[in-house]
Amino acid sequence: MPEQPNPENILQTGLAFCTAKTLLSAIEMSLFTDLAHHGPESFESLIGRLGLHPRSARDFLDTLVALGFLNRTGDIYSNTPETDLFLDRKKPSYIGGMLEMANHRLYPFWGHLTEALRTGQPQNESKTGGAGLFETLYADPARLKEFLAAMTGISHASNMTIARAFPWKDHGTYVDVGTAQGDLASQIALANPHLRGMGFDLPEVAPIFEDYVEHLGVADRLRFVPGDFFKQELPKADVVLMGHILHDWDLPTKKMLIRKAYEAIPAGGALIIYEAIIDDDRSKNAFGLIMSLNMLIETPGGFDYTGADCSAWMKEAGFSTTRVEHLVGPDSMVIGIK
Ligand SMILES: C[S@@+](CC[C@H](N)C(=O)[O-])C[C@H]1O[C@@H](n2cnc3c(N)ncnc32)[C@H](O)[C@@H]1O
Repeated sequence: MPEQPNPENILQTGLAFCTAKTLLSAIEMSLFTDLAHHGPESFESLIGRLGLHPRSARDFLDTLVALGFLNRTGDIYSNTPETDLFLDRKKPSYIGGMLEMANHRLYPFWGHLTEALRTGQPQNESKTGGAGLFETLYADPARLKEFLAAMTGISHASNMTIARAFPWKDHGTYVDVGTAQGDLASQIALANPHLRGMGFDLPEVAPIFEDYVEHLGVADRLRFVPGDFFKQELPKADVVLMGHILHDWDLPTKKMLIRKAYEAIPAGGALIIYEAIIDDDRSKNAFGLIMSLNMLIETPGGFDYTGADCSAWMKEAGFSTTRVEHLVGPDSMVIGIK
């Protein structure tokens, strides 16, 4: 008997914004951070501290239990191992930066997806003819900090893998282009004591990068290079890395950045490009495709792409060999050897 069509996936996906917003509100209220530091807590004490109205307080907390983000024993609520590790703001493993930004910025912007699909225009701060994504974000120190922390949140797992999976023993220097807080550059330095590295990014990023690498204890082998990749060549190094960079830009800019990377490395050097690389058949990596829609919302010309696309652009720039390697979850890296 053929399986009867089931509406569950349709309904779950269509209403997934309710699930998402419940988690985002809990992060906004520092629920998991407070439980991590105050320990398991009774219903009465929790709703007092969070300032919850009694009407739906229990529904809210029990929804988080049902979704697997909280544990409850009797009337006592506590974090799960995951929310305690990844959603406590005071831990280096915190990935909530991306979710805080999603709550403040992406959640309202995505409400205009239909308009974006019809106009091809971004729906973020730059919608009303303002400056570009980075100029707008970087004009406000709080949003700059939130954005850079968000990038660490979304990239940390892949950064840890790149630091261990790539054959770093064959190289001596590297530069992470668009380095943000510097998590990738730091993880590579931590895992490879023989290496010296640079983080290249817009000048406003410098103090946040320097604090971060100092905090991780690699400031002696890792330095910040301020610059603008539209206006200057990239710093020379054996390996150039670009994480969540190419997807921000249109095709001519993607090719310009790959060409600049080619010119910055010696023969035998490498370019590592990583993000939620879409599968070549464009039918499986839904997160990569959604990231591409997010580039519609956030940028005038950005889009995500497949491993085959990226390999072809690298070959066009002169790279002799390319390969695609899976990292973690939806993320993969494309490696070009000069
Ligand atoms: C989407 S973030 C990616 C951050 C990090 N590589 C990651 O994967 O988490 C893009 C980065 O590119 C940097 N960036 C944007 N425009 C730039 C430019 N013209 N020159 C140098 N860096 C730039 C931003 O400051 C930001 O750190």
